[in-house]
Amino acid sequence: MIPLFDLTRQYMKIRGEILDAIDRVIASGRVILGENVEKLEKEVAEFVGVKHGIGVASGSDALLIALQAMGVEKGDVVVTTPYTFFATASAPYRLGARVVFVDVEESTFNMDLNHLEHVLRKEKVKAVVVVHLFGRTMDLEALSFLREKYGVMVLEDCAQSFGSEWKFENGKVKKSGSVGDAAIFSFFPTKNLGTYGDGGMIVTDSDQIAEECRTLRVHGARKKYFHEKVGYNSRLDEIHAAILRVKLRYLERWTEERLRVARTYQRLFEERNLPVIYPRVEEKGFRYHVFHQYVVLFENEETRDRVKNGLSERGIQTAIYYPLPLHLQRCFGDLGYKEGDFPVTESLSKRSLALPMFPELSDEEIEEVVRTMELFI
Ligand SMILES: Cc1ncc(COP(=O)(O)O)c(C=O)c1O
Repeated sequence: MIPLFDLTRQYMKIRGEILDAIDRVIASGRVILGENVEKLEKEVAEFVGVKHGIGVASGSDALLIALQAMGVEKGDVVVTTPYTFFATASAPYRLGARVVFVDVEESTFNMDLNHLEHVLRKEKVKAVVVVHLFGRTMDLEALSFLREKYGVMVLEDCAQSFGSEWKFENGKVKKSGSVGDAAIFSFFPTKNLGTYGDGGMIVTDSDQIAEECRTLRVHGARKKYFHEKVGYNSRLDEIHAAILRVKLRYLERWTEERLRVARTYQRLFEERNLPVIYPRVEEKGFRYHVFHQYVVLFENEETRDRVKNGLSERGIQTAIYYPLPLHLQRCFGDLGYKEGDFPVTESLSKRSLALPMFPELSDEEIEEVVRTMELFI
């Protein structure tokens, strides 16, 4: 059996440190908003290259709280892509915004900035939520350019891209999460930096957005029991912050291992000349891709499904991210979209397949995945 993702292999290597960290939190008696959350917020903000980090209960809450702190409210237009995890779009929807989707690029799975500019020219847009899908950074330079040109607020959904980077023309390398007005991370267990439960964080350079997020996560009260806003109970637990601080120290090593896995897939696909489109590991001297997922494309849905079923029969797990694009989800029916509106997204959702990807996946296992794929293509 080869899993898509395996939490236990990694845990066995760091078990002692994790249990110590958890023990220290409980023994300290301070389990909510203590020194671990505070330190992790600083460490993550510093890692990304921005001023503030605000720990919250999940990536989904981070999106909701960040958008509310950025001033998104009923009737505002918020643009995002239909090819992402549900929460990216449900957050602005829940705040009463009118969600406008724009299609993605086939080569990157990320928002097509030409389509975005088209919308920005036509509509008054309050905020754009961009996603660095599967760990691949979108063009941060082009994004920054549009943000300034149109004076639109940008929230970066970095749930899948912790540590990914982009190199600007002037040679400067920036992390995903450092160019928007704010950015969010998810610490869901399967994420590149994940805890053993739910968790999330907002990062921002803006003192005002940070202050607003800190207030919203504790029921909108700057001073306890005095509520200025209707907020949420959404805090990152001390135990999770302590776990994440241990894991953050390993992240660099784990990212290297993810790159090894991606390089091995690439070498095997090249050697066997398989008719699949796969993400390239380009050695550019910066991490434009951190391979949260390793997603390949087949010629059509029929081939994709045949390979998926064949792998499954032989004990190899895969997944489809995402089988139904967001503009076709029943709950968003009132947005008025229909099949055919976003052809790239619709095609990708029919042709894509995520293969096993995690730092501890062995070269032998990768070979078995590719050998088995070859039988069914
Ligand atoms: C792109 C994206 N955005 C948001 C989220 C939401 O994060 P969480 O599961 O921590 O709520 C996820 C998590 O799956 C995600 O992949």
